[in-house]
Amino acid sequence: MIKKGIILAGGLGTRMSPITKSVNKQLLPIYDKPLIYYPLSILMLSGIKDILIIVNKGQINQFRKILTNGKKLGINIQYKEQNAPNGLPEAFIIGEKFIGKEGVALILGDNFFYAQSLTKTLQNARKLNLGAKVFLHPVKNPKLYGIATIKNKKITYLKEKPTITKSNLAVTGLYFFDKHVVNFSKNLKPSKRKELEIIDLLNKYKKKNKLSFEFLGRGGAWLDAGSIDDYYDATSFVSAIEKRQGFKIACLEEIALTKKWINKKEILESIKFYGSCGYSRYLKQLIS
Ligand code: DAU
Repeated sequence: MIKKGIILAGGLGTRMSPITKSVNKQLLPIYDKPLIYYPLSILMLSGIKDILIIVNKGQINQFRKILTNGKKLGINIQYKEQNAPNGLPEAFIIGEKFIGKEGVALILGDNFFYAQSLTKTLQNARKLNLGAKVFLHPVKNPKLYGIATIKNKKITYLKEKPTITKSNLAVTGLYFFDKHVVNFSKNLKPSKRKELEIIDLLNKYKKKNKLSFEFLGRGGAWLDAGSIDDYYDATSFVSAIEKRQGFKIACLEEIALTKKWINKKEILESIKFYGSCGYSRYLKQLIS
C-alpha cells in the first residue's frame, strides 16, 4: 500500500510567461483556488497523508504560507527545493529520504483530474506493491505529451512528445511507483533536452514487465494547465461545475473532513485563516 506522495510543483512555466515570470504557476488561480489545490486533492482522495511538495529554489515560503505543514488538513506536508527543472524523475532523487524504502505516488503540480469513480480508481492504484502504474487518457494533440501504444491490454511502446504516432493515448501526470523508483531514477541519463525523462523511467519498468495502466474513462476530464489555453479551460471547467452543482472541486478541507482526518475545530480555524470569502462561506456550510 502506497502511503506517500510527491507533488512536483517547480518548473519555469515558460509557456505562460510573462504571467509566470515572478509567480510559480502552481500558485495561480484555477477559478477560486490555487492550482496546487487540485493535485493535492487527488493525493488526499487516494488516501495519501504524507506529502512532499517540490518547488523552485527560494519558493518554499510562498507555498508554506498557504498550505502550512498540513496539520490543518490532518496531513503532513514537507517541502524541498529543486535547483533547476532537470526533469520529472529528479523528484525521486530529491525525495529519496522522504520516500525511504517504500513505494510512492507522483503527481505533477499542473495536472487537473476530474472523473467519475476517480476516488475508487485511485484507492485501487494505491494498493500497488510491485511495479509502476500510469493513467492514460485520449488527447487530440499527442505531440504535446508522453504517449503510450497499447496492444493486448499491455503498453507496448512509450514515447515523449512524438512527432509521428498512431496512438492518441497520453500518459497523464499521475504515477504510482514501487520502492525501486529511487534507484531506477538515479541510473537514468539526461535526454537530448538535458532532462531526466519520466518516459525513460517508465520504460525501465516496462522492460521488466512491471508497467500497468488504467484508463481515466471517457467521462473523465484531464488537463495539464501548461499553456494559457489549457489553463483557462481548467478554470472554465471548474467554474461551470461549481456554479451548476453547488459543490466545490478540490476543497481540501472538505476532503479531510469527509475522511475524518479533521473535525469542526480545524474547519473553524481554516475559516479564520482564509478570511471573508466565498471559500470560507462554503466551509461554514459544511459544518452548519
Ligand atoms: O502533463 C502530462 C505530461 O507531463 C506527460 O504526458 C509527459 O510525459 C511529461 O513529460 C510531462 O510533460 P510536460 O511537457 O507537460 O512537462 P513539463 O515540463 O511542462 O512539466 C510538468 C510539470 O512539472 C510543471 O508543473 C512543471 C513541473 N516540473 C517540470 C520539470 C521538467 C518541475 O517541477 N520540475 C522539472 O524538472
